[in-house]
Amino acid sequence: AHPYVDVVEEIQQLKKELDAVILAHYYQEGEIQEIADITGDSLKLAREATKTSASTIVFCGVHFMAETAKILNPEKRVLLPDVQAGCSLADSCPADKLSRYQEMLRINGRKFQTVTYINSTAAVKSLSDWIVTSGNAEEIIRRVPEEYEILFVPDQHLGSYLEEVTGRKMILWNGSCIVHEIFSIQDLLKAKKQYPDSLTIAHPECPANMREHADFIGGTEAMIKYVSGFAEPRDFLVATEANMLWQLQSKHPRHRYLPVPGIACACNKCPHMARNTLEKIRDCMKNGTPEIAWEADFLKARAALERSLLNPP
Ligand code: 13P
Ligand code: SF4
Repeated sequence: AHPYVDVVEEIQQLKKELDAVILAHYYQEGEIQEIADITGDSLKLAREATKTSASTIVFCGVHFMAETAKILNPEKRVLLPDVQAGCSLADSCPADKLSRYQEMLRINGRKFQTVTYINSTAAVKSLSDWIVTSGNAEEIIRRVPEEYEILFVPDQHLGSYLEEVTGRKMILWNGSCIVHEIFSIQDLLKAKKQYPDSLTIAHPECPANMREHADFIGGTEAMIKYVSGFAEPRDFLVATEANMLWQLQSKHPRHRYLPVPGIACACNKCPHMARNTLEKIRDCMKNGTPEIAWEADFLKARAALERSLLNPP
């Protein structure tokens, strides 16, 4: 048989033996999304992790996602195929630096709450009042009482987008996603000319000069919902991680999806997400490692996560 078939069969077998569920983010390779029990954006995957009855969660995504699943489910075993699958946003905001900045604001008499993008470490989450994803960010910003200023970390672009849509000024951290930061506006404009009837959909992690050319701005789940609203076939220029095209194609195949290229490469793939492979999924299930271990600061992070993601008003 083909080696691909062998690996997939092994994974299916191990899933039964381990009583495991496989969760995969939309930025995983199509062949990984294909074998997953559940695919989703960050918000859906965090919520699904709390709903599953399986005792082991195999998280096909990046470290902060698997860590979030563990924080919300301390009694479950959470495996991540490659422990080095990080995130440029999480890296841009070390907890000690954030803590010093918060202290400086307090010394200056500023009354603020910290709203943190889920793309961050548990240590940063534990310094936060609220945790947002692209899917619930607007709702959470509106829940922060008006008497507080908002310190928004770590994504400056999502932050500036939220300022635009909510009208609320915020103190922004200067982090960004390496994938969304390098879209080529020139190439987007060229593609728009080439496909004059196309619609451009962009992730809010894109910089403002990219977002201003978009017909729709939203996270990955919102993108699926948006294209589902068009009954007739359309062309969509997609400004987010390139594997999202696989998910759009498989859910709504009547449309055509064209990737917006980056400045340095033909398509935008996240190098961290790309660390996961079918072989590594099999191996982590076989070996029970890498596993996300429980850490002391998870408890505080958990309170912010539960308040924000699991208890909508
Ligand atoms: P969402 O799928 O939640 O929109 O997140 C995008 C992302 O960059 C995840 O790393
Ligand atoms: Fe982080 Fe960007 Fe990769 Fe998402 S796509 S994991 S935000 S680096």
